[in-house]
Amino acid sequence: MEIETERLLLRPLATADAAALAPINADPEVMRYIGYGEPRTPEQTEALCAKVAAHWDEHGWGAFALSERATGDLVGLGVLATPAFLPEILPAVEVGWRVARDRWGRGYAPEAARAVIGFAFGDLGLDRIVSCIHTENAASVRVAEKLGMTLERETTVPVYEVPCSVYELKA
Ligand SMILES: CC(C)(COP(=O)(O)OP(=O)(O)OC[C@H]1O[C@@H](n2cnc3c(N)ncnc32)[C@H](O)[C@@H]1OP(=O)(O)O)[C@@H](O)C(=O)NCCC(=O)NCCS
Repeated sequence: MEIETERLLLRPLATADAAALAPINADPEVMRYIGYGEPRTPEQTEALCAKVAAHWDEHGWGAFALSERATGDLVGLGVLATPAFLPEILPAVEVGWRVARDRWGRGYAPEAARAVIGFAFGDLGLDRIVSCIHTENAASVRVAEKLGMTLERETTVPVYEVPCSVYELKA
């Protein structure tokens, strides 16, 4: 399962990606609005990759590694996951984006997300996708807007106690 876009190659995140993903996940600027907002240790990134790989094995979908075609570098994640941290919107599938700081501002997040959404609506046959964004995460809100997503609700993530804007897109 691989998807090629103009500048990126999307492929299922694998356990072997942990070393390349670790510095991105360890960057406080990247992680500021994700979960508790804390940088992740290499061990936490390893656990994440293992969990995502198991999800792909079991369900046939999950988060993608974003490989930059020009360099082969892993430059981020195109997330596809169940937003279990926000029970009030379930059932739902969430699209998300995470890009290495030295690659911000190039449009990689919307480019990857368009491909992930195409996979979700096409291959998986979903008719709706959501994105749960920390309300103060202006760059991420902008990505959702560029994708044509609309604000569905403002709420609070109970486990993290952070304000969350839920965006949605229908097929
Ligand atoms: C959010 C993120 C994925 C965006 O990735 P990207 O590839 O840089 O996205 P883009 O190149 O499309 O740029 C983001 C857009 O937000 C805008 N933007 C950036 N910072 C902004 C800010 N502080 N306020 C308002 N808009 C901002 C940019 O101008 C751009 O919009 P434009 O194309 O209309 O000029 C990236 O910033 C990131 O990885 N952040 C950390 C992880 C994260 O928070 N992920 C989202 C979790 S919900």
